[in-house]
Amino acid sequence: MLELFAAAIGGYLLGSVPFGLVLTRLAGLGDIRQIGSGNIGATNVLRTGRKGLALATLLLDGGKGAIAVGLVWVLLGRDMVPVAGFAAVLGHNFPVWLGFKGGKGVATTIGTLLAAAWPVGLACIGTWLVSAAIFRISSLSALIALAASPGFALYFAGPQYALMCAGLAVMGFYRHKANIIRLIRGEEPRIGGKKKAES
Ligand code: G3P
Repeated sequence: MLELFAAAIGGYLLGSVPFGLVLTRLAGLGDIRQIGSGNIGATNVLRTGRKGLALATLLLDGGKGAIAVGLVWVLLGRDMVPVAGFAAVLGHNFPVWLGFKGGKGVATTIGTLLAAAWPVGLACIGTWLVSAAIFRISSLSALIALAASPGFALYFAGPQYALMCAGLAVMGFYRHKANIIRLIRGEEPRIGGKKKAES
């Protein structure tokens, strides 16, 4: 029980570091939550026109998920990995430091999956890339990859990981509510485009 608690709290705290917000502030771009979609993730950082900053956000948001999983795996054992992975994405999406209003968890989910069960992570990245090549819409590509992730996990890693991915997919879809509405209306911008901040 103590291990479960430690994995959940440790994963949440690591995941809750809002790199997109920190990097854009350090770069003098102001508050990323007032720009584009208002999201703190790499897709929205890209809308500032700073490709390097967007890449750094992607790597750091993914890296914190991977580090959370890696640390918990080494310190507490493999059984706690799905708990740490889910908690890291929860921390990114609902960080206590930002009044529980965080990101959408795509990069952190990918980092978590790469560290927890790399074939699942690679399959999700491949799905995102193929979807992005076809549709040119970041959120749609993320939703397709998230929806596919429990199937990949069941095939490559087993039921525990499939359950973690199902949880991550539900949380990811919830955090993409506004994107889903725009997608249905045909108003979601393509990669490289700009859009107004979400309310
Ligand atoms: O990674 C988040 C992405 O799926 C959508 O981001 O800024 O277009 O809402 P955004």
